[in-house]
Amino acid sequence: MGPRRIAPFLLSFFLTHTAFAGDTSRASLEAISSTSNMAEATPVAPSSELLEWPKKDKRRFLHAVYRVGDLDRTIEFYTECFGMKLLRKRDVPEEKYANAFLGFGPEESHFVVELTYNYGVTSYDIGTGFGHFAIATPDVYKLVEHIRAKGGNITREPGPVKGGTTVIAFVKDPDGYVFALIERASTHDPLYQVMLRVGDLERSIKFYEKALGLRVVKTVDKPEYKYTIAFLGYGEEHETTLLELTYNYGVTEYTKGNAYAQIAIGTDDVYKSAEVVNQVTNELGGKITRQAGPIPGINTKITSFLDPDGWKTVLVDNQDFLKELE
Ligand SMILES: *[C@@H]1O[C@H](CO)[C@@H](O)[C@H](O)[C@H]1NC(C)=O
Repeated sequence: MGPRRIAPFLLSFFLTHTAFAGDTSRASLEAISSTSNMAEATPVAPSSELLEWPKKDKRRFLHAVYRVGDLDRTIEFYTECFGMKLLRKRDVPEEKYANAFLGFGPEESHFVVELTYNYGVTSYDIGTGFGHFAIATPDVYKLVEHIRAKGGNITREPGPVKGGTTVIAFVKDPDGYVFALIERASTHDPLYQVMLRVGDLERSIKFYEKALGLRVVKTVDKPEYKYTIAFLGYGEEHETTLLELTYNYGVTEYTKGNAYAQIAIGTDDVYKSAEVVNQVTNELGGKITRQAGPIPGINTKITSFLDPDGWKTVLVDNQDFLKELE
């Protein structure tokens, strides 16, 4: 078995196992020492060329990573209720975990979910900060009927959003993760959105624009329901994966639990991308949790960081990612 064949095991193991423990002190030290190196090496004003990089880079949402208490149960639920396909599945007994990738199309072009099962852990705390995933469908009523027939739990019956016309519904998966079903005539990829709650929307928007080159495609303020949401993406609203950030008036903190882990985004240059993130975390908060570089034992280059609320993102080298899929 060559290194290429074991790469996906190790990358997944690395990403999901380090995320669980939070930041090791070593990672924090790395972040600190790198920060001071940056300060020495860079003139007072950050290079504008560098700060433009995230907008020029080839970025794409690759997958969302989270933990489940029974891999086969979730695979069955997602394939039967949502119509997802099982794309990859790995069991790594020597490391006591297994994982599975599911989505509506090949990973080369679709945003997918990566489920992690840690041997013996049958449930997780989702926390109050994680919101939901969203699936677009041309007929929410029909999909809900189908999911109910398969034994799924509907937590909001289908119907138009309050004060609007878009038909939505909410479904809970067997671990308690919420999936919003949203009516759309057509879509580039049914799994198109992840919603996270944040404590300061302006700060988050600034952070994701600068650190990741995301653009706000839409904001919605609903004073009557005391929330504001922003949708961020790398393309037009109906043609790209979206990160939905929700601010509930007056709520500045949420619990993270230990279930949801992170989002992975592709980049053409992990090193340059990490330099930008370093500069942005100095300005707006958050921190690098893993300096850019190849994962030991394999060649996939990554860097990971937390946003000011503590939500984690992993940037993965585009070419290395494609090699893993071979
Ligand atoms: C639906 O909810 C009930 C009660 O919480 C739970 O026992 C059951 O496992 C859920 N079903 C699915 C498919 O998630």
